[in-house]
Amino acid sequence: MSTDSIGIFDSGVGGLGVLSEVRERLSEADLVYVADQAFAPYGERDLASVRKRAFAIAAYLLDAGSTTIVVACNSASAAALHELRKRFPNVQFVGMEPAVKPAVDATRRGTIGVLATEATFQGALFASVVDRHANGIAVVPRACPGLAAAIEDGTDPGELIDRYTADLLDEGADTIVLGCTHYSFVADRIRRAVGDGVHVIDPAPAVALQVERVRAGRDAGGTGSTLYVTTGQPERFEDQIQRLTGIRRPAVGVAIGT
Ligand code: DGL
Repeated sequence: MSTDSIGIFDSGVGGLGVLSEVRERLSEADLVYVADQAFAPYGERDLASVRKRAFAIAAYLLDAGSTTIVVACNSASAAALHELRKRFPNVQFVGMEPAVKPAVDATRRGTIGVLATEATFQGALFASVVDRHANGIAVVPRACPGLAAAIEDGTDPGELIDRYTADLLDEGADTIVLGCTHYSFVADRIRRAVGDGVHVIDPAPAVALQVERVRAGRDAGGTGSTLYVTTGQPERFEDQIQRLTGIRRPAVGVAIGT
């Protein structure tokens, strides 16, 4: 096992979008992906319990040889990114924050919408992003209960997407930020719901660019391996990977923390 791998984690399948963007940029990197499916969804839990999971998974990834950890989950970033950096000062963390800054640059009417989980909106990170970047632009948050779970389970998310995006359109949003990594997998459906005049921003490519920057050429000697780990059922995770990416990959099941 590599002792200089990039660990990537999420509550479930959402971070797979980030994983594939990272793979595009760093073909030789050794990647370890953890889906914390025994505790998914994170977005409807309280921040303290999500933080506890983030610490347990970070410790697992460090033991597994990761030297950079990508928190490919807005909810976990909201709950724990700041504390993870404090607890593990020698580890590089790359986290997710809602892409308010590019949305503020893109809006023409001065109103942007953010689709994310309850947990993401509760964290201090969201308030700080708005504080730093809104710059007089109206930022409308829309929590999306059930949407990440529908994507996880493969049930039809159409009705939820129509309802949540309609609220943002009613508020006059002309730019919508995907503030949960799961939503990347339904970005096309969201674009269809809001129509051509509304710009939808998926931050996954920008996060992968940031991973490439912090790795600064360290992956040239890697083997290009990807290890898929779940705290849930490996076969179910393999089915989900196949459904969402078109390719079946072997996954291993582990117990992490309590
Ligand atoms: N993918 C996650 C996020 O970015 C969490 C979804 C969930 O588990 O509720 O927020």
